[in-house]
Amino acid sequence: MLEQLCHIDEINDPGAKGFNLKQGRKERLLFIIKKEGQIYAYENQCPHAGINLEWQEDDFLDNEKNHIQCSVHGALFNIKNGDCMGGPCNGEGLTSAEVEVDNNGNVMLLA
Ligand code: FES
Repeated sequence: MLEQLCHIDEINDPGAKGFNLKQGRKERLLFIIKKEGQIYAYENQCPHAGINLEWQEDDFLDNEKNHIQCSVHGALFNIKNGDCMGGPCNGEGLTSAEVEVDNNGNVMLLA
């Protein structure tokens, strides 16, 4: 089911935005990274301890904005594919979510 998350212009480049979606009785936490005009979406769950990644609201990137960084123990992830790049993620990556940007610039969740 398609679900609109936000408009592409609501996310800085580079930048990020987190979402807390209600899906029936469940909550689904996701975040989107925008970098160099591309967007990438992941479940907001660190593979190290299974908890949320952000430092504060919508803050998912390291200081240089080159990697996703977990605020809890500092694990680093590749923005483009969610792969573990260092820290206690021990080779485990983030789980991606499928999104697309429609002709009006709306970021839509596909799955
Ligand atoms: S919970 Fe993310 S690095 Fe430990």
